[in-house]
Amino acid sequence: IPLHLPWIDAINKLKKQRGAVIMAHSYQSPEIFHGVADITGDSLALAQAAAACDADLIVLCGVHFMAESAKILAPGKTVLIPDVEAGCSLAASITAADVRALRARHPGVPVVSYVNTTAEVKAESDACCTSANAVEVVEAMGTAQVIFLPDRFLGNYVASKTAVELILWSGSCEVHEQFTGQQARHAREQFNARLLAHPECPPDVWAEADFVGSTTAMGKWLERERPARVALITECSMADNLRARFPDTEFIKPCNLCPHMQRITLPKIHACLRDLRPAVEVPEAVATRACMALQRMLAVGR
Ligand code: 13P
Ligand code: SF4
Repeated sequence: IPLHLPWIDAINKLKKQRGAVIMAHSYQSPEIFHGVADITGDSLALAQAAAACDADLIVLCGVHFMAESAKILAPGKTVLIPDVEAGCSLAASITAADVRALRARHPGVPVVSYVNTTAEVKAESDACCTSANAVEVVEAMGTAQVIFLPDRFLGNYVASKTAVELILWSGSCEVHEQFTGQQARHAREQFNARLLAHPECPPDVWAEADFVGSTTAMGKWLERERPARVALITECSMADNLRARFPDTEFIKPCNLCPHMQRITLPKIHACLRDLRPAVEVPEAVATRACMALQRMLAVGR
């Protein structure tokens, strides 16, 4: 962090002048997460914070779908994203036309879409969910079948936790799909580490894990268990950001970084606060329908 101090100081000054709130996802690098963010968390926490926030200007340090969700939930506010190219392989895996085709193939079956989707896909969905509340949202539909998209691994995980039959899509996270069960076993056997895995990992990874959950749920598990050594089978900025909170725990890092999250940097945050751009805009007709799906998720909660 010392290397970054001039940027951190400049951003924090400009942030005050602008009356802005900076929100950062747990996969942001430590200098952003610890240095300039006012609000940090998983994608559900950021969506809840955007809905509740009273600042008129939000800088969303995360990927594009997160900034879009903030804008949809807080349409009167300006939402800036430091790099509009920060995408997500899951959001890119499905279009609104794909969702309409799925509905035509399964008439009457509700659609639950992971928040890692575009606003257009959310607008075609009955409800959104995140990895923190996917089982609860699926069950809140009150139907025997649910179309669940786009992550097939998260879908497999949810299916293992509920009696609801899920119709899945073939999307995957380019970061989490790379982890293997063998890697997880290696971390346990070589380092005697407890294993925490994100449900976007393949099933043979979460079969090895002591705990499977969203980024916030992993933090809560660590608070409860306080293990001597842990391997986080997820995007590796998470371990960097949690280390400060758990100084007595050794973090083993099977490291995969999300290239989209890494596009957000301190100089880009500074430039976007200085220039008040790029701002995220969502056409009103899309935003209104997408907002209903997001609100339905927020009503279910965590
Ligand atoms: P969370 O819902 O756990 O924040 O995960 C979002 C994400 O992009 C995971 O790769
Ligand atoms: Fe998307 Fe995976 Fe990156 Fe999360 S880690 S933003 S799911 S590509």
